[in-house]
This record gives sequence, C-alpha cells and structure tokens, in this order.
Amino acid sequence: MLLDLGSCRGTFGISLQKIMPDLSIVCVDNSFIRVATSMFRKPLFAKGPKFLYGDLFKTSISNVDILNVYLPQEMTKTLIDKIRAESRSTTIVVMYRIELEDLPYKERIYLGRPSEIRNRVTVYEF
Ligand SMILES: C[S@@+](CC[C@H](N)C(=O)[O-])C[C@H]1O[C@@H](n2cnc3c(N)ncnc32)[C@H](O)[C@@H]1O
Repeated sequence: MLLDLGSCRGTFGISLQKIMPDLSIVCVDNSFIRVATSMFRKPLFAKGPKFLYGDLFKTSISNVDILNVYLPQEMTKTLIDKIRAESRSTTIVVMYRIELEDLPYKERIYLGRPSEIRNRVTVYEF
C-alpha cells in the first residue's frame, strides 16, 4: 500500500493509479476543499485512489509499504519521529522537493538541474 501524505488535489495519486491500477493508494490531506477536489478529479469509474480528509500525524502508517511525502520542509522533523515510531523496517519513504536533513538516503533522482531542490526525489529506508 502506498500512502501519499499531503496529497493536495490528488495529482500524484491519480496519475500513479493510471499507470499502476493494481496498487492500493491512499491519499491524506487536511484541507477539506483539496480532498473534495481530489474526489471530483478522480475518473468516474476508477477503483482508486482512496482520498481521506484528516491530519497526517493522526494517520497510521504502520501498514504502509511506500510513503510518498511532499510537505513543507519544516514539517519533516516531526515526521521523522512519526516514521521511526510507527513504520515497518521495510517501509520506503519517497520525498519530493524536500529532504530529511542529516539522514543518509538510499537514492536520489534528479528531474532537472541537480542544484535545485525542487527537482529532486529522494528515497529513504529507515
Ligand atoms: C506541498 S502540498 C502537496 C502537493 C501534492 N503532494 C502534489 O504532489 O501536488 C502540501 C499539502 O500538505 C497538506 N498538509 C499540510 N499539513 C498537513 C497535515 N498535518 N495533515 C495532512 N495534510 C497536510 C496541505 O493541505 C497541502 O495540500
């Protein structure tokens, strides 16, 4: 199961579901308008993703295989504590445009010029 934390209007989840229809995708955001927009944008008869309105810090991540995270950088410190406390050792954390400072990463993918953080996807294993 992939959990998208801070899913906004659902762009990532909807796009990924199109190319991976069998993947279970759950998207969480604490903006009611954004979650409602996501539900509206989802193709009518598509199986997923599942969109949830709520605080990601109150969302369990204990059964997640892949965590996709694109949040304000200042939230990452609190998020690390949550990941350490709750996630499985096999959970992969994928961060877009943000990074877990001081933590070694497994892989970094550059989508454009390497110098710009907004072009980076960084993968962590805990
Ligand atoms: C940078 S945007 C994410 C963009 C989106 N992931 C994308 O790929 O287009 C950050 C999102 O995190 C959400 N957010 C911020 N704090 C949150 C929290 N505590 N719980 C859930 N969502 C939160 C905001 O509502 C916002 O939609």
